[in-house]
Amino acid sequence: MARTPYIAANWKMNKTIAEASEFIDALLPRIAATQHDVVVCPPFTALHEVVERRRGTAVRVAAQNMHYDESGAFTGEVSAPMLVELDVEAVVLGHSERRQHFGESDEALARKVPAALAAGLEPILCVGESEAARDAGETEEVLERQLQADLSGLEAGQIGGVVIAYEPIWAIGTGRTATPEQAQEVCAFIRDVVRMRGAATEGVRILYGGSVKPGNAAELLALPDVDGALVGGASLDAEEFAAIVNAAG
Ligand code: PGA
Repeated sequence: MARTPYIAANWKMNKTIAEASEFIDALLPRIAATQHDVVVCPPFTALHEVVERRRGTAVRVAAQNMHYDESGAFTGEVSAPMLVELDVEAVVLGHSERRQHFGESDEALARKVPAALAAGLEPILCVGESEAARDAGETEEVLERQLQADLSGLEAGQIGGVVIAYEPIWAIGTGRTATPEQAQEVCAFIRDVVRMRGAATEGVRILYGGSVKPGNAAELLALPDVDGALVGGASLDAEEFAAIVNAAG
């Protein structure tokens, strides 16, 4: 089955509203002809502006996190229905920076993933191993543990609605990209794990993330089990991000 390439810009804690509008205005003409799924993930404060600027275009908008409850005494948090009200369509969950710096746990993710789907948001679930785990030969074990835990709240039939991003922690923001062999091997492994949970995996999009740039995107995106990219640093520049979108065949 042909899977539509999925290219997402994870801005992290970058861009004011003014900078976000400037980016969208620069991006749209550069990707006007694309048939790919293009997703921009601004900080909460710029979501509304990006949603409004991209209306009538193919660009979709994702938040970078959410809480699993709909409302309540959770100071500083934002819920799925609040994002849906803004016309946000997707949400990044379990990014390694949230796991590392903000205590994001697999237990919380097991609740966030179904909560996102229930609200009508497409979860972009991030998984990935540390450098120490890779060196110890534990990559598959770590990924399997994360996937089983984070997807545990879903029925097999719901997994098709989740986008999974393989992001080796040692490749994020380091300029060190996984080799095409490593990216393919792990993304194929992820598809196998999802298949073992009884899900139909042919349509599941599995992205690679970690120092994706215009210069390495085409090779990574051509791999059979890599269906897209989650781009951090290079997504802050509209021209570079557009070049990555257009590098997907
Ligand atoms: P990077 O970040 O492209 O800057 O390595 C990727 C990510 O964290 O999603």
